[in-house]
Amino acid sequence: MPAVETYSAEKEVSEKDTVSITHAARTYQAFPGSRYALPSDDQERQRLLLQHKTLRGIFGDKILFAPVSLGSEDKVLDVGTGSGTWILDLATSVDTSVSMVGVDIEPRLFPTTPPENFDFRVESVTRLPADWSNTFSLVHQRLLILALQTQEWPLAMQEVYRVLRPGGWIQIDESTPWYDEKCPGKPCMEKLTALYRCLARARNLYVDCTDDMTKMLAQAGFVDIQTKSGIQKMGKWAGDVGVANRVNHIGVLRGIKTPVLQAGGFGYVSSEAEYDALLEGLEKEWDEIPGTEKELIIFWARKPEV
Ligand SMILES: C[S@@+](CC[C@H](N)C(=O)[O-])C[C@H]1O[C@@H](n2cnc3c(N)ncnc32)[C@H](O)[C@@H]1O
Repeated sequence: MPAVETYSAEKEVSEKDTVSITHAARTYQAFPGSRYALPSDDQERQRLLLQHKTLRGIFGDKILFAPVSLGSEDKVLDVGTGSGTWILDLATSVDTSVSMVGVDIEPRLFPTTPPENFDFRVESVTRLPADWSNTFSLVHQRLLILALQTQEWPLAMQEVYRVLRPGGWIQIDESTPWYDEKCPGKPCMEKLTALYRCLARARNLYVDCTDDMTKMLAQAGFVDIQTKSGIQKMGKWAGDVGVANRVNHIGVLRGIKTPVLQAGGFGYVSSEAEYDALLEGLEKEWDEIPGTEKELIIFWARKPEV
């Protein structure tokens, strides 16, 4: 296959009319209309657990930034809950009289026997149940960067706004993307970033969502919008934390392998072995060349009292 010298953000990409590259495919959700790009198998469940620990660590084990004090009248909703790591963790610090609800388009990751005050529903954040209006004191959403299409972000915000009680809080924890840029001395990083961007464009996933989050929250009607930024350092140079972050993020890039190969590799890889070798090279780059970082931003905001 020809070497690709430039990785352009403007490159035309499509998943249509492509020839899928043979590989050992993982299991993915099949929710109608969803373009979510990560798997929903045991390996992903393990990754989500590690990810929760690493993200907790950035903020000194603090996971709740919205200023709510939760009591027996309160209901908490976690949208895109996955394996429920965030809401199950929150539950350990609040009274069992607080109702906890997790929703996800894919039930496979959520525990089959959650605590008694938990409910789980298969729903999309873009279309929550009609009878949930003005119900929750807190709605949390974390890492839907590879899930929501550009037009779905404002819809998700409107839905969360609708299901919050007046005076209730939204908290969104979201990652910045990998940026499409030259990475001197890191050719694997440059190529994988290009692949990630191609996949996002092909699926219309809004990986730059953090750029517009404050604006989208305000447009949905939220007030008192606040943010806090945390940095994930990647690689051995950053000690044990750096290694854990590296394992987690390589796990994400391993998770998008099937969608990338099913889309034909976007001209950057032509076999599964080539994709795997790229990931191995990336691990080395992150370990041996200090400096790779990724930002996680916490946004919280209030639905006004009427
Ligand atoms: C990267 S995982 C994050 C899981 C969890 N929030 C966490 O931080 O551990 C994203 C989750 O969002 C779910 N998801 C994707 N699209 C969704 C949608 N439209 N509505 C609700 N959940 C969605 C996926 O099935 C997946 O479980």
